Amino acid sequence: MSPLTVLKVAHRSLGTLTLTSIFARQHSSLTTELIENMDKKATWDRFYTENSSSNFKNFEWFFGFDSVRDFVLPLLQPHTRTATPLHVLDMGCGTSALGPSIYQHSSFQVTVTCADISPIAVRLMREHVAAKAIEPHHPLSMLGFLELDCREMFAHFGADGLDLIVDKGTTDALLRSKDGSGKAGHVVRQCLRTLRGSGRLLQFSDEDPDARLLWLETEGREPGERPAQVAVQEVGELRGVRYYCYQVTSPPVAELL
Ligand SMILES: C[S@@+](CC[C@H](N)C(=O)[O-])C[C@H]1O[C@@H](n2cnc3c(N)ncnc32)[C@H](O)[C@@H]1O
Repeated sequence: MSPLTVLKVAHRSLGTLTLTSIFARQHSSLTTELIENMDKKATWDRFYTENSSSNFKNFEWFFGFDSVRDFVLPLLQPHTRTATPLHVLDMGCGTSALGPSIYQHSSFQVTVTCADISPIAVRLMREHVAAKAIEPHHPLSMLGFLELDCREMFAHFGADGLDLIVDKGTTDALLRSKDGSGKAGHVVRQCLRTLRGSGRLLQFSDEDPDARLLWLETEGREPGERPAQVAVQEVGELRGVRYYCYQVTSPPVAELL
């Protein structure tokens, strides 16, 4: 494959903004590893190690909090029946500012957990937040960082353990890896098992709705259940690439077969 072809494949796989940042700084062996093995912990450990410097900067896949705030914040309404704060998970948080920004901007009490398979990313985020002392909008809100393979999400959080899961680029990373598509389906089912009845999974992606809606409806189905309910909204176009927000909910209990 010529270098130009590799660049085009990477462009499609990783998204334009990501591509720009990565190719400006990475050498080609990491690029190749990213294209093929974005489902592997070792790839991400290497990525975050090679991107870290004494001057920490959040790395954003696709785009940052400002592009998604109008999709996320309106969903953060307190429970009507219980006093339990909303629990939000940024799944595969990397070193993105998304989770900390939700903690900073939610006017209702939230517990935000930022989880990633890479202990390097988790350590960088813990150190950054400790140094920056970010203040929440709601005084009782909490922010935490967790090393977690999201395939183990249900074992960690349990049924009804989460109210909102945000996924910016993580499912895309799994789906576009050589061996990752089975893992991606497993992760979607774990999300739906872990969410409260009224909870939602938001996936931000550049994948076309023709492909992603069908995939989510199929993969979000547990045996004996109806498909997950999926809606899509356009986030916008950035540097010629169109991005979408896929919103996934479990089927209502009354609809179970
Ligand atoms: C494309 S990056 C997106 C990072 C971040 N969400 C953002 O918007 O910048 C994918 C992230 O998913 C993480 N990841 C990959 N597989 C994972 C898994 N099985 N469990 C948890 N995180 C995973 C990677 O370490 C990486 O940080």
